[in-house]
Amino acid sequence: MSGQDTAGGTWSAPGRVNLIGDHTDYNAGFALPFALPQRTTVTARPRTDGRVTATSGDLEPGDFPTTTQPGDVTGWAAYVAGIAWVLGEHLGTPVPGADLQIVSEVPVGSGLSSSHSLECAVALALLGLAGAEVPREELALLVQRAENDYVGAPTGLLDQTAILRSQDGHLSFFDARDLTVEPVPCDLDAAGLTLLVIDPHAPHQLVDGGYASRREACERAARELGVPTLREVEDVDAALASLTDDETRRRARHVLTENQRVLECVALARRGDLAGIGPLMTASHASMRDDFANSVPVVDRTVEAALAGGALGARMTGGGFGGAVVALVPREAVPEVRAAVTAAAADAGLEAPVVLDVRPSRGAGRD
Ligand code: GLA
Repeated sequence: MSGQDTAGGTWSAPGRVNLIGDHTDYNAGFALPFALPQRTTVTARPRTDGRVTATSGDLEPGDFPTTTQPGDVTGWAAYVAGIAWVLGEHLGTPVPGADLQIVSEVPVGSGLSSSHSLECAVALALLGLAGAEVPREELALLVQRAENDYVGAPTGLLDQTAILRSQDGHLSFFDARDLTVEPVPCDLDAAGLTLLVIDPHAPHQLVDGGYASRREACERAARELGVPTLREVEDVDAALASLTDDETRRRARHVLTENQRVLECVALARRGDLAGIGPLMTASHASMRDDFANSVPVVDRTVEAALAGGALGARMTGGGFGGAVVALVPREAVPEVRAAVTAAAADAGLEAPVVLDVRPSRGAGRD
């Protein structure tokens, strides 16, 4: 690591969209996310008094010792402090003191992983100041630990992996059991397609009970089926038939069928048939809505409007209970889809959704 880094610098990390494969990561399954063009940028300068400060726009600044422990810091700065804590544990010595100036373009509360984007950018900045390097696969696990044990959200590895390990122009085929990522080319221009992220302002919260209770249902299903995780299920139909509790069966059915849909999407993308992915995205949304029960009416209406406007496929992306929709849209249908989702919001008496035209972008790094 160069002395240039220990003297300070700028690091950034993208938000992420999960094209398909939600609530599969903590079931050791498959997902197909990509990094967004929108990024969180951290400019870091060393300080010598053993403290970390963090400022971001109008938010209350964070200021805590580098020896911070879980429970010390709450609010948005807990994401920063959690990273300082976990890196200190990993390195066996507190991270260097730092002033961190944060600027984020990633919409907050939209299921686009603004918090993991912040955590990953801060992690790279603090490692840079420390003159230390951690392989990306391992860093993703550390960021997960900060999120689970410091922030208190029982989330999986999807987001950090997408943010830290994605490549420009590629989807990231993530196997959460083997922790492998295979870049899958995604040439939207060649296919005449656009990916829209539509945020209908239905903020989601992963520290509420919904995410944890879904996770528990999946673990219960695996226990009843006598497998370590749902990934180990070989005969999906037989497994589902043997689950007697209807709710547990539906939660497991989402995960098991979602894994199959991810594999089908990867196969289509590898053949260059990006348009073929559309119906699988829509099927994934139906599975979340009906089986996993983690969608909300405003998101369902947005999906329906996008499809009515000509999208080839649309689904809620991320943890759910609100958040944004990702839609695969032929380029010429983009105005119609924008108009349809805006009209649907107006009919429901809601503010117009934010519509972003996105494409798979580079992962986190030094700027
Ligand atoms: C959130 C979590 C991820 C993953 C998704 C759902 O984004 O942080 O680990 O579980 O929800 O796929």
